[in-house]
Amino acid sequence: ASQLRVDVSGVEPGTQLTVLFLGKPVFVRRRTADEIADSQSVDVSDLVDPEARNANIPDGSDASDANRTLPDFSGENTGEWLVQIGVCTHLGCVPIGDGAGDFGGWFCPCHGSHYDAAGRIRRGPAPENLPIPAAEFIDDSTLLLG
Ligand code: FES
Repeated sequence: ASQLRVDVSGVEPGTQLTVLFLGKPVFVRRRTADEIADSQSVDVSDLVDPEARNANIPDGSDASDANRTLPDFSGENTGEWLVQIGVCTHLGCVPIGDGAGDFGGWFCPCHGSHYDAAGRIRRGPAPENLPIPAAEFIDDSTLLLG
């Protein structure tokens, strides 16, 4: 299987690094405290897609913020790290990030899909949350994709 190491030491809170993996953009977002708090406060029952879509946890897990974010190297999930495949689940455009859209996350300009700060679809034609690829920290500042 193909794997990619990503150095995230330069990713400041409130910014996103985009890398190409298996021909698709992968968004590595380091969220701010406000983004984490906002996203954690969302009731899962209000979501369009209630499933986590996270390859690192069992299928069918709910789309709570904790199920969407990636633990750091110590195994603690602070909610800071959100890693997702940057392909709109409608027809595959690349959403705009850095707090774009009406829910403070990503916005797909192709047909107007709004994703929140956990990459969950909140409005527009996209049917599913942005997918989370297999990923883990292999030291404090290196992410392994795949
Ligand atoms: Fe993103 Fe249609 S491809 S809204």
